[in-house]
Amino acid sequence: MRGVVPDLSPDPAGALGDALDRALDGVPAGRLAPVVERLIRDYRSGSVPGAPILRTADDAAAYAAYRMPATHAAVLDVLERAAARLVAPSSLLDLGGGTGAAVWAAAGVWPELTAATVLEAAAPARALGQRLAGGAPSPLLRAARWEPAVLGTSTTLPAADLVTACYLLGELPGPVRDAVVDAAARAARVVVLVEPGTPAGHARILAARDRLLAAGLTVAAPCPHADACPVTGDDWCHFAVRVGRSSRHRVLKAGSLGHEDEKFSYVVAARGDAVTRAPGRIVRHPRTRKGLVTLRVCQADGTLRDTPVPRSRAELFRDARDAAWGDAWPPE
Ligand SMILES: C[S@@+](CC[C@H](N)C(=O)[O-])C[C@H]1O[C@@H](n2cnc3c(N)ncnc32)[C@H](O)[C@@H]1O
Repeated sequence: MRGVVPDLSPDPAGALGDALDRALDGVPAGRLAPVVERLIRDYRSGSVPGAPILRTADDAAAYAAYRMPATHAAVLDVLERAAARLVAPSSLLDLGGGTGAAVWAAAGVWPELTAATVLEAAAPARALGQRLAGGAPSPLLRAARWEPAVLGTSTTLPAADLVTACYLLGELPGPVRDAVVDAAARAARVVVLVEPGTPAGHARILAARDRLLAAGLTVAAPCPHADACPVTGDDWCHFAVRVGRSSRHRVLKAGSLGHEDEKFSYVVAARGDAVTRAPGRIVRHPRTRKGLVTLRVCQADGTLRDTPVPRSRAELFRDARDAAWGDAWPPE
C-alpha cells in the first residue's frame, strides 16, 4: 500500500544521487547555502524573471543540489504514469532542461529511447548537466546532446518523438510560453509539460492544454477527458511525490526532515490514436474511515465525483485502500 503521498522516489539514493555526490561533494555547503536562499526567493516570487536565474557555476550547483532531485522525482512520476498510456518514444527533446532532470527521468522509464537533446539557455546549467550525465550508467544520458538555445516567440523545434518542458513555462513571458507550447505540439508525437503544483502552475498547464488540444493532440494524462477542467474555485489540480532528502540537501535547506513532498501539475498529450486515456483520475488523497474509502475522481464525462467504496464491495474496497492520489480509477 502506498503512503499518504505516493512514491518515495528512489533517488537521490540511485544513479542520479551518485552523480550529484560525485559532482557536488567538493563544493562547500557554506558557499552554496546563500545561493540556494536566493534561488528559493527567485522561484517563489512568481514573476517571470527579467534575467537568467542560473548565471554562474555555483547557481547551477545549488540548483542541482536542492531542486533537481525533486524535479526529477516529479517528472519520473509523470512519465511512469504516462508510459502505460502511450507507445514508447524513441527520441527526446527537452526544453529548458537545466541540469537534465527530465532526461534522467525519461532514461529511467523508456529503454526504447535512443537519442536525447537538451535545449538550455544557461551555460552553467548545460555544463553541469553534461557532467552529471557523462558518468551515468544509461547510454542515452551519456550520449545526450546539450545545445545552447534561447527559446522565443519565433522558436521552431526539430522533430522529436517526445518533447518535454519541465518547470520551464513559468520562466517564460506569456507570448513565448504560447509559442513554445505550439512549437512543441508541431514537433512532437508526445508532449509532456510539468509545472509547480501551485494555482499559477496549474493555470499555465490548463492554458497549454487548450493549445495542445487546438493543435489536434489528445490529452493522455492526467485528464480522462478533453472537456474543461472541473477542479475550480479554491482548488487546483495537482499531484505530489515524496522525495528522500540527501544530507547535503538537509544542510542546504536547513531542514531536519528526511523527505519533502514535491507538488506538481502536468499534462501529457499525444498525436494520433495510440493513446489510451485513464477511465478516471484520483485527484485528492483518498479519505479512509473504518469500512469506507472515499475517492475524489475526475471522471471521463468531465465531472468531479466523490466516490465512496464501502467494505461490502470486497475487491473494489481492497483496490481503493491501495489506491493513491494520482492513480487511475477504477483500476484497469
Ligand atoms: C526551473 S529550471 C528547470 C530545469 C529542468 N527542466 C528541471 O526540471 O529541473 C528552468 C530552466 O529553463 C531555462 N530557461 C529559462 N528560459 C529559457 C529560454 N527562454 N530558453 C531556454 N531555456 C530557458 C533556465 O535557464 C533553467 O535552466
